[in-house]
Amino acid sequence: MKLPSNFYKPLAIGAPEPYRELPVALERMIHFFPGHNEKVRARIGEMIPQVDVLLGNLEDAVPADAKEAARRGFIEVAKAHDFGQTGLWTRINPLNSPWVLDDIAEIVAEVGNKLDVIMLPKVEGPWDIHYLDQLLAQLEARHGLKKPILIHAILETAQGVKNVEDIASASPRMHGMSLGPADLAASRKMKTTRVGGGHPYYRVLEDPHADGSPRASAQQDLWHYTFAKMVDACVANGISPFYGPFGDIQDLDACEQQFRNAFLMGCVGAWSLHPNQIAIAKRVFSPEPSEVLFAKKILEAMPDGTGVAMIDGKMQDDATWKQAKVIVDLAKKVAA
Ligand code: GLV
Ligand code: MG
Repeated sequence: MKLPSNFYKPLAIGAPEPYRELPVALERMIHFFPGHNEKVRARIGEMIPQVDVLLGNLEDAVPADAKEAARRGFIEVAKAHDFGQTGLWTRINPLNSPWVLDDIAEIVAEVGNKLDVIMLPKVEGPWDIHYLDQLLAQLEARHGLKKPILIHAILETAQGVKNVEDIASASPRMHGMSLGPADLAASRKMKTTRVGGGHPYYRVLEDPHADGSPRASAQQDLWHYTFAKMVDACVANGISPFYGPFGDIQDLDACEQQFRNAFLMGCVGAWSLHPNQIAIAKRVFSPEPSEVLFAKKILEAMPDGTGVAMIDGKMQDDATWKQAKVIVDLAKKVAA
């Protein structure tokens, strides 16, 4: 059960309007930028129309002595631009860090009306969401914000995975969740040094051959279990699942494969850490034209969504009609 957000309580005169619907805009990629990097800041204007979501990162990858500069840089960017349809997010520092209180207070005070979503890292349970929910309610009331700020949790600790359902349902402010494979690997004490993707040693060997010839093996997906658990928790609570970072910036094929697995599993998008991952996310998280054509055939063959039809030798019924509708609806959103 979702706990009510303070948006349901008339906290103060000028408090924001009730909780809004989740964004209907596409969120195929959440593009990260470091707010303390002046060169990156100078190119934000040209970046905005290219991405679905732009996120000012204040957390990991920002050195401790640049935390304040990253925050100020993000605020400067938020003030300087009109974001149009592009979502504006920030990833704040963890709730137990020395920077987070200023991250939240300064950003909400100065650019709260432009901010769509706060990404909260290292969420361990619903208590983290409740804390941020209350804090946001206080600040939104104090600054007379016009719309509530949503919360996106990163699933990146073993505790978080254990509590994923309660996190997903913790507040009506929940926007969605991203899998954070780097921190999750550390938290689980996995023996890797990678940011997402596969691992050459995580594989299954085929049975021995009678003639003793070499046995083939295939790499397996390290993230499948967590992914499936996260997608179910999100969808069951009406929020959006995402894949997080893919750290091997040079390996565009592996990035594409990781994103595609996420797309097929139900995710709506992934993070892009480098401009060359933007086009991959755009391509992967938009349905393929041949899939859309086939899905349209299903919808046409069963106009009221019931019954049975054969298309190209494949049986279709009410369930495949629903699958087809997911694909056609997404194609329409992409085309809009
Ligand atoms: C993302 O923050 C991760 O840890 O993978
Ligand atoms: Mg992380």
